[in-house]
Amino acid sequence: MTGLPPAGASPAPAGAPRLIQLRVNGEARSGVAEPRTLLSDFIRHELGLTGTHVGCEQGACGSCTVLVDGELTLSCLALAVQAEGREVETVEGLAHGSRLHPIQQAFQTKHGLQCGFCTPGMLIATRALLADTPDPGEQQIREHLSGNVCRCTGYTGIVEAVLEAARLLGERGEPGA
Ligand code: FES
Ligand code: FES
Repeated sequence: MTGLPPAGASPAPAGAPRLIQLRVNGEARSGVAEPRTLLSDFIRHELGLTGTHVGCEQGACGSCTVLVDGELTLSCLALAVQAEGREVETVEGLAHGSRLHPIQQAFQTKHGLQCGFCTPGMLIATRALLADTPDPGEQQIREHLSGNVCRCTGYTGIVEAVLEAARLLGERGEPGA
């Protein structure tokens, strides 16, 4: 999991703010960003989607994880301008109204969170894992989530939650959805 490679021309290191148009959680969105604005700040402050958390701001904790065109991306290492024209998915895109996504249900029932700070990144990372690997083993889960730091749970509940999410999705006939 990394930041984003440049989309087309490299963004200028400095310059005037400009309008960024993209899709977020299936909807067309736009907002103003300077060339140096981080994607994490753009998502939180310009688009108002504060479910994406920011911890270390240096790519070490995973709390800012989002999907960009389906790829796991650390939004603190990406620039907003790099998301121009792309599809971004944040934790807000998981639930449908008051109905939790099976991954969220599983984290709830298996106690995959305590303070919740790491949780948005964990949920998005889990979504990416199950999209590629609908029936992962414990070791695969631990390796996949190794870039997402949790200071509370000791990870056991998180691993159980991912296994439960895989089971729920399989039961619904939507493995990896
Ligand atoms: S805030 Fe992005 S990895 Fe920690
Ligand atoms: S639940 Fe607190 S950091 Fe993970």
